[in-house]
Amino acid sequence: MTRLVDVTTRSFDSSALPTVTMIGGGQLARMTHQAAIALGQRLRVLAERPEDPAAQVSPEVVLGSHTDLAALRKAAVGSHALTFDHEHVPTEHLEVLVAEGVNVLPPPSALVYAQDKLAMRTKLSELGLPVPAFTPVTEVADAVRFGDEHGWPFVLKAVRGGYDGRGVWMPADAAEAERIVADQLAHGVGLLAEAKVDLKRELSAMVARSPFGQAATWPVVETVQRNGQCAVVIAPAPDLPDDLAASAETLALNLAAELGVVGAMAVELFETHDGELLVNELAMRPHNSGHWGMDGARTGQFEQHLRAVLDYPLGDTSPLAPVTVMANILGAPQAPAMSMDERLHHLFARMPEAKVHLYGKGERPDRKIGHVNVLGDDVAAVREKAERAAHWMSHAVWTDGWDPHE
Ligand SMILES: Nc1ncnc2c1ncn2[C@@H]1O[C@H](COP(=O)(O)OP(=O)(O)OP(=O)(O)O)[C@@H](O)[C@H]1O
Ligand SMILES: [Mg+2]
Repeated sequence: MTRLVDVTTRSFDSSALPTVTMIGGGQLARMTHQAAIALGQRLRVLAERPEDPAAQVSPEVVLGSHTDLAALRKAAVGSHALTFDHEHVPTEHLEVLVAEGVNVLPPPSALVYAQDKLAMRTKLSELGLPVPAFTPVTEVADAVRFGDEHGWPFVLKAVRGGYDGRGVWMPADAAEAERIVADQLAHGVGLLAEAKVDLKRELSAMVARSPFGQAATWPVVETVQRNGQCAVVIAPAPDLPDDLAASAETLALNLAAELGVVGAMAVELFETHDGELLVNELAMRPHNSGHWGMDGARTGQFEQHLRAVLDYPLGDTSPLAPVTVMANILGAPQAPAMSMDERLHHLFARMPEAKVHLYGKGERPDRKIGHVNVLGDDVAAVREKAERAAHWMSHAVWTDGWDPHE
């Protein structure tokens, strides 16, 4: 007679392998857990809700808020490293954890440059790195003066807390700037102004660094944004001159060492029409621009992030194909009637080569609910496939009108 295993009696010797705690229960934590499994580990997560993407899959979930020091302490107990799937933990809480002996990685002294865009801009310009002109905005007049000096529209940003383009505005004139600034300041949001870069395209240079000081880069990728949000990533960035690629990688490596980063870091870059690079922002965690590597690189960012925070030797980051394109599956304006399961079925029938990653999230307009990776030789062909697959998964519509029943 077969008996079902009572899962509650299963033992797991947690002392045999290290425990990493990740703060935040989103898709980045979910995919880090996936990588942890292969290393014989389980990722502990601090998630706000049991239905969060990582909380659905990790057996070690602490429910609570990343702004609650008690919840952070609880999540940290016995963990070898405490790391992040977002940058929204208050820096002062992290400093308390460090003082109590928690191995916070990246350390708050580095992480602050991913949390606070004004601190980042200031630090990078002190280091002599190329950044757009910027200034803090503490009153309406600061913004209007900046726009008059650097041209309209300029870019107004929340100093902390923005993501996926939330917290970024491009006021076209003084009246619009006044309205946004007054409203945000009234809500206690710190602001900075920066010049709008006339950009050719956006790039991302990703690197991972261990406490030992080992570092590894992935090829520099092109990121395509729609509505201020990453939609497509092309790895490596097509037609990027070797010298620019090398200087982007060197910049990322030097910055990681200079700031004392541990774990994965994405350096979001603007490429200008005159072939210059400017730093947009830093993310010190796995990042959307690194998702291609789950299928397209020998070692992807999630495994590499774990290796780095555990001070393991880092993995080979070589690409596995001449080009990999990642397309985000973004929630459609209206969720299709066809179930996700059925959409997946059709996608696999049409495109056996597409690698799909779904995050277990409900469909809402423009929400990142998954991504598709396609590997191949020809950038245009691979990109078309990846985008068509992602669009199918979110809209249940083939962009080329293909009908499986015809
Ligand atoms: N100075 C600038 N000049 C031109 N475009 C800009 C500038 N700053 C930001 N942008 C555009 O807005 C997007 C979002 O800005 P930013 O990366 O600062 O915001 P975020 O919400 O923190 O980002 P993320 O989407 O990476 O979470 C950028 O990817 C870029 O397309
Ligand atoms: Mg960004």
